[in-house]
Amino acid sequence: MNVPSETASINGAALTATGISYAVGMAQLLEAVSLEVRHGMLLGLIGPNGAGKSTLLKCISQILAPTAGQVCLDGKDLQRQSPREIARHIALLPQSTTLNFAFACLDVVLMGRNPHLGRFQAEGARDRAIAQQSLQDTETEEFVTRLITEVSAGERQRVLLARAITQQPRLLLLDEPTAGLDVQHQLQVFMLIRRLVREGLTAIAVVHDLNLAARFCDRLVLLNRGVVHAHGLVGDVLTAENLARVFKVQAVVEEDPNLGVPRVTVLAPLDTE
Ligand SMILES: Nc1ncnc2c1ncn2[C@@H]1O[C@H](COP(=O)(O)OP(=O)(O)OP(=O)(O)O)[C@@H](O)[C@H]1O
Ligand SMILES: [Mg+2]
Repeated sequence: MNVPSETASINGAALTATGISYAVGMAQLLEAVSLEVRHGMLLGLIGPNGAGKSTLLKCISQILAPTAGQVCLDGKDLQRQSPREIARHIALLPQSTTLNFAFACLDVVLMGRNPHLGRFQAEGARDRAIAQQSLQDTETEEFVTRLITEVSAGERQRVLLARAITQQPRLLLLDEPTAGLDVQHQLQVFMLIRRLVREGLTAIAVVHDLNLAARFCDRLVLLNRGVVHAHGLVGDVLTAENLARVFKVQAVVEEDPNLGVPRVTVLAPLDTE
């Protein structure tokens, strides 16, 4: 399975990526990947290490120029837009960020307003209020005066999420947003994303924790070796067969009695010899 059937129509779709390929030298990292995400939806992107998930988010946000294919946001081709225009509509929380400069966390969060400001324009009261709300939403207010280089990894991840939200994007791309977060903050971050999605945001999150993906995502795309192996509703994608084929594990998928969503229990790695 390679091209989701619904990509034939962009009606109601906020984001439509069609036939995205990306190659570096001889390495084909993505091959004709298509997906669409409607307004107010959270799409989960799952797949093993090296499947191409981060590469796909970078292609969607145009940090990497796809070697083939098209990405449209609300019907507008992103390849025709400047990085600054794109940054007004799309925020990416990267999987890892090198921040060697000792900025105060407040300044890091305020950087989210840059795409909306004039060239030498300083942030105004409204920009500060937006940043303040993001700090509250991510419970990072206590770090405002601390340096980004001097907070813990999980705290830093939440500060960077606050920056992405401060950007007030229409499309939020999250590359493993809860990696390294404690269980309480994992839930808080996903509940925050769900709230933003309810308010109209469109989002894609790369998620390794399949049970978090099952609980919080509307639909899933399962990527394997640069191609879409399966896509659709959570229950259709998270099957024991798909998990065996793609992740090479024996797993049981059953309904979680407390949450009423699919629950994955991984039993053992499969012999791949
Ligand atoms: N510049 C490059 N040249 C060659 N191969 C690359 C390059 N960048 C990435 N790759 C390879 O492309 C594949 C996809 O990488 P990507 O970071 O998108 O994977 P991922 O699905 O995000 O994995 P993870 O779950 O580990 O984050 C990997 O096998 C990686 O080694
Ligand atoms: Mg990755």
